Amino acid sequence: MKILAIETSCDETAAAIVEDGTKIISSALATSTAMHRKYGGIVPEVAAREQLRCIMPVIQEVLELYKKEGASMSQCITDEIDAIAVTTGPGLIGSLLVGVETAKTMAFVTGKPLIPVNHVLAHMYANFLESIQGSSSRIPSATEGARDNNNQIEFPAISLVVSGGHTELFLMKSASELTWLGGTVDDAAGEAFDKTARLLGFETGGGPAIQNAAKLFDGKKIVSLPRPLLHDDTLNFSFSGLKTAIIREWKKFPSPSDQTTAAFAYEVQESITDVLVAKTVRAVKQHSAQSILLSGGVAANIRLRKKFKEAILQAKLSAALFVPPIELCTDNAAYIAAYAYFRGKPVDWHDITAIPDLSVEA
Ligand code: KG4
Ligand code: ZN
Repeated sequence: MKILAIETSCDETAAAIVEDGTKIISSALATSTAMHRKYGGIVPEVAAREQLRCIMPVIQEVLELYKKEGASMSQCITDEIDAIAVTTGPGLIGSLLVGVETAKTMAFVTGKPLIPVNHVLAHMYANFLESIQGSSSRIPSATEGARDNNNQIEFPAISLVVSGGHTELFLMKSASELTWLGGTVDDAAGEAFDKTARLLGFETGGGPAIQNAAKLFDGKKIVSLPRPLLHDDTLNFSFSGLKTAIIREWKKFPSPSDQTTAAFAYEVQESITDVLVAKTVRAVKQHSAQSILLSGGVAANIRLRKKFKEAILQAKLSAALFVPPIELCTDNAAYIAAYAYFRGKPVDWHDITAIPDLSVEA
């Protein structure tokens, strides 16, 4: 089954064709990230206008990459595509509307089934995709002591979605059965990386800037930051207190050296990753999970991946770790198609609408 998916929830315009929820046939993406840099954050109006400018060229690109020689675009959709999937939320209303209305029009004209997709839930299905090069995107924790599971996701699985807007833990009893276990009560992990990066003077780069600065840390600790909600009984997260703590501590260093910045970046990264790992491991124990799935932009963090591998060994968990390649961690349409295949349900186009605050508590 081939699904053509469209993703326009924020500042990326993406389309992809995926077969049977796993094989990426073609994938294309345009981003307006650079345009938002000078404002220090995403400007919704600018993002929506860029979505409008890019949506048709991006869809054209995925079809060009795939269609048979001599066939028209519409012939390609009519003959080859089984269903159309689109992100309906959560996200920015102006951006979402561009993708939703385009997908509805395509479904209306072609008569293909239309599948609405929740962007946050879809992130975790990046773990079911094979990368474009044909190699498996699945990276089980191939460290000593890890269980050899032939790269297959086994259930129950615990899934941690960590992006710029969300930090959520889910139990997956099968590829289609999801239960929300907990999430952030305030800032998302990616948001915490982005906000603290700005406080430390990084104008761009957010999480990657913190990760790079932390690599320069010489081991001399000069700051201790809190590990919020580390020991409470829930599977919730809270990261907004980190900002306040950093503002307080950073003031003690009026002329920070590169080493001071590195020490702060290291501690920020430790604080966020400590909590993410601890809560996920707790969920794995509670549900005797056989797999841990990471996804979302923050799953690109190298320290987080390393800590997960160490924690699995230390806690003697039988779970295997799965992390998508970096290009599938961040926003794209391939995982939208994967979600639609494994869990989506077609809905009449009349009943599909953009929902900016679509809930993740599945
Ligand atoms: O999933 P994503 O591309 O977009 C959302 O749906 O939000 O995630 C973007 C987030 C940003 O907050 C960015 O700073 C963070 O992912 N991020 C990272 C790294 N790469 C991206 N955070 C920590 N370490 C990284 N290497
Ligand atoms: Zn996302």
